[in-house]
Amino acid sequence: MSIHKESVKRVTTHVLSEMKLKGEKISMLTSYDYSMATIVDRAGIDVILVGDSASNVMAGHETTLPITLDQMIYHGASVVRAVQRALVVVDLPFGTYQGNSKEALNSSIRIMKEASADAVKLEGGSEVLESVNRILSAGIPVMGHLGLTPQSIHKFGTYAVRAKEEEEAKKLLEDAKLLEEAGCFAIVLEKVPATLAKKVAESVSIPIIGIGAGNGVDGQVLVIHDMLGITQEFSPRFLRRYHNLFAEIKGAVETYIGDVKSIDFPNEREQY
Ligand code: KIV
Repeated sequence: MSIHKESVKRVTTHVLSEMKLKGEKISMLTSYDYSMATIVDRAGIDVILVGDSASNVMAGHETTLPITLDQMIYHGASVVRAVQRALVVVDLPFGTYQGNSKEALNSSIRIMKEASADAVKLEGGSEVLESVNRILSAGIPVMGHLGLTPQSIHKFGTYAVRAKEEEEAKKLLEDAKLLEEAGCFAIVLEKVPATLAKKVAESVSIPIIGIGAGNGVDGQVLVIHDMLGITQEFSPRFLRRYHNLFAEIKGAVETYIGDVKSIDFPNEREQY
């Protein structure tokens, strides 16, 4: 699908809820920079998530915890400059919304003003409800994130599948309903059993976007570096690799090095 500026109809939160009503699946991918976001948007993606996974894939940290609000705003603004059609959601980074709803609102306002994002995403259910309410009361659309919430990795101690036990599954369903009642426009559901994810999607009216949550939900999200095969070590069962860009880029760089060393590059047509 090619997108021309004049004919572009923006994806809004309202469009996403209509898609759920019609049973049309929502496509979502991460992007963190202008060039990648341009490609992803022109391909026709519905939602671009400027995820705090930037902490891993862009900055090389082991977890999502170190990334700062200033860094998320930098990535968000770069993506927004590229996008013509997709809805752009920017993650609130760890430590900018959990403890204090006023800080949560201030962080969200900075993301909306300085990155010109369309919405913010945050992790958690009842624990962050006060922050969710305060952000929503300022008219800022909020996407929730339940199941495996990477900002809590030190509490979980593992990236294993969440909510396999009945008690955790019950809380997850309650949290999804709380976020819906509060006014969140969608929820990311990460690494939970497919049967539970389907039940959640059927129990709420807002779109549930899954990652490692089966196909009974309203849409799917992946980290772009993982699905393009740029990252190598990360290979969870839910990940489908659509390319092996690591090998392709490495091959191109090796050829370039060879061309430089052998004085094949630049040739006569490539000089002035
Ligand atoms: O930060 C991120 O990329 C995410 C996705 C994995 C949903 O939250």
